[in-house]
Amino acid sequence: MAISREIIEEIRSRVSIYDVVSQSVRLQPSGNGRFKGLCPFHQEDTPSFTVTTTQNMFYCFGCTMGGDVFKFTMHLKGLSFVEAAQELADSAGIVIKKLNKKETLRLTRKQKLYKVCALAAEYFSNNLQVGTAGAFARDYLASRDLSKESILNFQLGYAKDSYDDLLNFMHKRSIPADLVVSAGLARYRDIDRPSKGSYSLFRNRLIIPIRDARGRIIAFGGRRLKEDQGPKYINSPETDIYKKSKTLYGLSFARSVIQKENRALLVEGYFDLIAMHQAGFKEAIATCGTALTLENLHILRPLAKRVFTVFDSDEAGQKAAVNSYALMLEAQISSFQISLGKAKDPDDFIKEHGAEKFQLQIESAEPMLVLKIKSLAKKHGLSPSGKNQMIEELLPFLRKMKGVTRDASISEIASRLAVNENLIRELLDKNSSQQEAIRKTP
Ligand code: UTP
Ligand code: MN
Repeated sequence: MAISREIIEEIRSRVSIYDVVSQSVRLQPSGNGRFKGLCPFHQEDTPSFTVTTTQNMFYCFGCTMGGDVFKFTMHLKGLSFVEAAQELADSAGIVIKKLNKKETLRLTRKQKLYKVCALAAEYFSNNLQVGTAGAFARDYLASRDLSKESILNFQLGYAKDSYDDLLNFMHKRSIPADLVVSAGLARYRDIDRPSKGSYSLFRNRLIIPIRDARGRIIAFGGRRLKEDQGPKYINSPETDIYKKSKTLYGLSFARSVIQKENRALLVEGYFDLIAMHQAGFKEAIATCGTALTLENLHILRPLAKRVFTVFDSDEAGQKAAVNSYALMLEAQISSFQISLGKAKDPDDFIKEHGAEKFQLQIESAEPMLVLKIKSLAKKHGLSPSGKNQMIEELLPFLRKMKGVTRDASISEIASRLAVNENLIRELLDKNSSQQEAIRKTP
């Protein structure tokens, strides 16, 4: 959706930076229409963050972040420009665009889907909290050391072992089955004949609601409670409000901490994420059962420049680590890999060794480049031809880097391989001119 320049100007002139900032920062007057507070974008003890009401702008002398209401809202909440504009317009009662009839239908449809998901989450959570049906799931969570607080905070739930209980619940609230299907919570018995009815997707499963960056529930993951009950997880399909490649599980809870710490901890599973938050690592986020995407990183990039990943030590995990390294370079994010020794995942690690040991693992995390060099050294050996091979395989990564990052990486490689930096630079230049030639060949 494009927003007209007039509307942007209207938002800029009608929404006061003071009002917007003071919702999340305690501002103290410091004269001449200026206010001071603790910067929400970096950690500090004395205020260097300023708001200038006469210019309707903010600026931080500590981290040099500055701009208007749009920039503030985008960075604080991890929103795109359009999303931020929408939010600011809503708060000021500005109608961004007169929508035509089809668009109105679409908008209300999306809003209906949010509503169905929120209602379903309440229903699942209630099943878990009270009644005999949820007893087994309650015991299961207790056996996994999940605290009452985590269960409530992440609004975990339980889907009864029934094909129609959820649909009946929705029906009583005048929500038609079609909408439950559109929200990804049910399926048609016969896709060609919706009139034949529908059934719940999640049955006898532990339910994990998935939220978008603004904290709205948009999808669900359902974990089996016993080994022999089908696939470990069943997930909502993609819907009008749920795109897996754009969603990071836990982001709405982690966002402010990610900004404060200037880092995100990226894990693979829902339970890993909850275990990490419970252990105090509240900057943790997880992908939604899919590989990391560039879109994920574009959402993270305005929040933090560093991502610490935890991947399984098996072959698939190592492959995922290399793929994510290439993506992080593309997104200009520094990446580090946390090692878990023999533990299967962060959840298991924390259960076995505790949060303090995990903290040590974070502190000793290695830059992805160093790990890559080490794994190449294992593969090729450190003979002259082995080193050549290694450099050859490192060139594609170097080519994705810019400026100081590239320089630092070249010195790192040179010193670890005991070769001259110029040799690497020459190969890089040669290689890129070859690439150029290939690109230009018709
Ligand atoms: P894992 O198999 O590592 O499970 O899958 P986990 O998260 O550690 O779960 P627990 O601890 O055994 O309960 C990692 C992630 O991959 C996705 C889920 O998002 C899961 O959290 N996944 C896994 C699926 O979507 N479907 C599956 O069948 C398995
Ligand atoms: Mn696990």
